[in-house]
Amino acid sequence: MTCLPRVNHVLSPCRSPAIPEQLDEISRVASQAIEEVREVSYNLRPYQLDRLGLTLALRDLVNRVAASAAIPFHTEIDPVDRLLSSEGEINLFRIVQEGLNNIVKHSDAATARVTIRPAGGTLQLVIEDDGRGFDYAALLADPKRPRGFGLSGLAERVRILNGRLRCDPSAGQGTRLTVEVPLPTSHEQKQPSHPDR
Ligand SMILES: Nc1ncnc2c1ncn2[C@@H]1O[C@H](COP(=O)(O)OP(=O)(O)OP(=O)(O)O)[C@@H](O)[C@H]1O
Ligand SMILES: [Mg+2]
Repeated sequence: MTCLPRVNHVLSPCRSPAIPEQLDEISRVASQAIEEVREVSYNLRPYQLDRLGLTLALRDLVNRVAASAAIPFHTEIDPVDRLLSSEGEINLFRIVQEGLNNIVKHSDAATARVTIRPAGGTLQLVIEDDGRGFDYAALLADPKRPRGFGLSGLAERVRILNGRLRCDPSAGQGTRLTVEVPLPTSHEQKQPSHPDR
C-alpha cells in the first residue's frame, strides 16, 4: 500500500467514505502489477545472449557500461560459450550486470576490473572496484532490505547455479565480488530448459 500516499493525502479533503478504500484498492493493484513486472523481468532472457552468444554479450555489456560511466574497466573475459545451460547463462549475465550496475551507481571508483574464466571444472568471476566500499554485514542484518533484487537477487542466482559467492567490500578501499560456479557436465547441459528462457 505504498504506491499512492501522496494521492491519498491530496484527495482526502473530499471526505467521501468510498474514496480511501478505492485508493487503497488502486494502490494494491498497482503494487501487484509492479511485482509482476519485476518477476517477469527477473526471468527474461537478455536478447544479446541469442544474438551474440554469452562471451560476446558479456564483453559488450562491460564495454557499454564502461563507456557510459566513464570508469576505465580492465576486462579479461575468456570464451565461456556453451559451458552453462541456457538458464545458467541468463543467471551469469544478470549477475555480471548487477555487479556492474552497483559499481556505476554506488562505488565512485576510479577503476574497475572484470575477470571471467573457466578453471578446473568451475567458472570463476571476479568483479572489483577501487571505490568507497560499504558495510556488507550491516546490509545483510537489515530486516528492511528488499529481497529478490540487487545483491539479494545476485546471491539467489548464485545459489541457483550451485555456486559460491564472496562479497568483500572494505570501507574506503573498494569492493570485490567473487563468484565460483561449478560447470555442468555435457550430460547435465542436455536437460531441457524453460522454453521462455
Ligand atoms: N560496488 C559497490 N560500491 C559501494 N557500495 C555498494 C557497491 N555495491 C553495493 N553497494 C551498497 O550496497 C547497497 C545494496 O546494493 P543492492 O545492489 O542490493 O541495492 P541497490 O543497488 O541500492 O538497488 P537495486 O540493485 O535494487 O537497484 C547499495 O545501496 C550500496 O550502498
Ligand atoms: Mg544494485
